Amino acid sequence: MELARQKLIYFSPTQTTQKVLAAIAEGTGIGQTDQVDLTLPPAETLGKNEISQELAIIGAPVYSGRVALTAANRLLQIKGNGTPAVLIVVYGNRAFEDALIELRDIATEAGFVPIAAAAFIGEHSFATVNKPVANGRPDTDDLGTARVFGVDVQKKLAQLQALDSGTPLQVPGNTPYKDRKPGGGISPNTLEETCTLCGTCADVCPTGAITVSENVETNKDLCILCCACIKNCPSGARVMEEPVMLKITDWLHTEFSARREPEMFL
Ligand SMILES: Cc1cc2nc3c(=O)[nH]c(=O)nc-3n(C[C@H](O)[C@H](O)[C@H](O)COP(=O)(O)O)c2cc1C
Ligand code: SF4
Ligand code: SF4
Repeated sequence: MELARQKLIYFSPTQTTQKVLAAIAEGTGIGQTDQVDLTLPPAETLGKNEISQELAIIGAPVYSGRVALTAANRLLQIKGNGTPAVLIVVYGNRAFEDALIELRDIATEAGFVPIAAAAFIGEHSFATVNKPVANGRPDTDDLGTARVFGVDVQKKLAQLQALDSGTPLQVPGNTPYKDRKPGGGISPNTLEETCTLCGTCADVCPTGAITVSENVETNKDLCILCCACIKNCPSGARVMEEPVMLKITDWLHTEFSARREPEMFL
């Protein structure tokens, strides 16, 4: 099977997923690459996005061992039309649990035919300079692995005569999936003395939870704790102060600092 185009479809608030997908796309060597970025709120009104006669590389972060819910909802708005798909989850060095099997099922429901999958590691959303968890990942080694994976995907595609939608791609994970953690009610705070009201945090928020006028207001019920506002604030004025979140970051730093490596399923 020869394809002249590929489409990167992703939700990636802190850009680690997007970086992994870009490296895989380099590896496939397929000439024309387009992007469907589902990260920002207008994605909700995308409607049915037609994909066909191309390779889809679909990526989402792992939130509590599942595909981030916002990503799942936005991915289901895309129409796969029997397109071959490579499925990528990116997790913060703890575990990806049921996220990859869930992404396979979401992609299949959306009409894609999964042909390969992988779990990569990205800097944990909750990590800080003082409490690092996979900080700086995906790093050069990860991106090299992603490119080689892209080469292998292209080899698999070349060998495929036809797509077999009858046999699901085998990936780790359990069904029923683990329960999602109930969220809501907490969000990062803004340090008024350092905030310049530049508006960047509102621009990068995937759920439109932030409004900037005379001060920065956050709708805690919309916040998915993705930490994009914290990681993109140019003045360091967005901070996580919630004791429960600080405890989680401590735990991740203590228990999950040992380097994990990407896993591929072809
Ligand atoms: C709410 C939330 C839950 C998360 N749960 C997990 C998890 O269960 N396991 C894990 O290893 N990383 C977890 N992470 C970390 C992200 O999967 C990781 O940082 C990923 O690289 C973020 O992707 P992005 O940069 O594309 O946004 C979680 C992050 C958030 C915000
Ligand atoms: S990005 Fe930072 S400095 Fe800019 S408005 Fe938001 S909190 Fe303030
Ligand atoms: S307010 Fe919440 S959802 Fe919006 S960018 Fe910040 S952490 Fe993410």
